[in-house]
Amino acid sequence: MRKNGIIIAIDGPTASGKSTTAKRVAERLGFLHLNTGAMYRAFALLVRRRDHRGHDLERVHKLLEEADISFSPTGNIQLDGINVSRELQEPDIALLASELSTNPEVRAKLVEKQREIGKNGGVVLEGRDIGTVVFPDAELKIFLVADPAIRAERRQLEMEKLGTHIPLEELRQQLEERDKRDRERAISPLRKAADAIEVDTTNLTIDGQVERVLELAKQIMAVT
Ligand code: DC
Repeated sequence: MRKNGIIIAIDGPTASGKSTTAKRVAERLGFLHLNTGAMYRAFALLVRRRDHRGHDLERVHKLLEEADISFSPTGNIQLDGINVSRELQEPDIALLASELSTNPEVRAKLVEKQREIGKNGGVVLEGRDIGTVVFPDAELKIFLVADPAIRAERRQLEMEKLGTHIPLEELRQQLEERDKRDRERAISPLRKAADAIEVDTTNLTIDGQVERVLELAKQIMAVT
């Protein structure tokens, strides 16, 4: 048993419902919520601010040494101590994060940080490789999936809340491009762990998907 409880790993493609589910499950259990995608996005923001491209590997590795990515006590992602959660929602930051996440040095550094934060348990981590690479010994592994059309609609709603309208077709293309790269990259590709439980959120409400994960977590907590 870990000091603070079990580790819940939630993986899945873009806009499959990971963040909302992970956040609410963590709140209900009094666990920490770690959005690892936000860490890749924060690094992408740093690269864009300082370098604009991300193709110059030497420069990327230098920035990696300087990168000060952390979480505030209330869970907001910070770059150099400043909350950047809003800027991380921009579609071009998501694409650059996906590109940079194919770089082994970038992954090694962020994975080390994720393990450090999560090792004592009592945590819900969401990402692409949590159940396969970051915590292959997590007590509960969930793999969320959803229909691409529904995922594009969900992303459109999220963007509209931030005041930006993006046509559905454009969003769907972006999702598919990102999914393809995340699944096909050589290191830690997006993949369902052999012992992960797949939850299809296409026809589930947010409450429905949260309840399903909580039900599974409670079963495991009862026997650990
Ligand atoms: O979950 P997200 O959309 O915020 O993640 C942004 C990108 O970061 C995603 O396209 C791939 C990468 N990522 C990753 O490679 N591994 C993770 N554990 C989380 C995100």
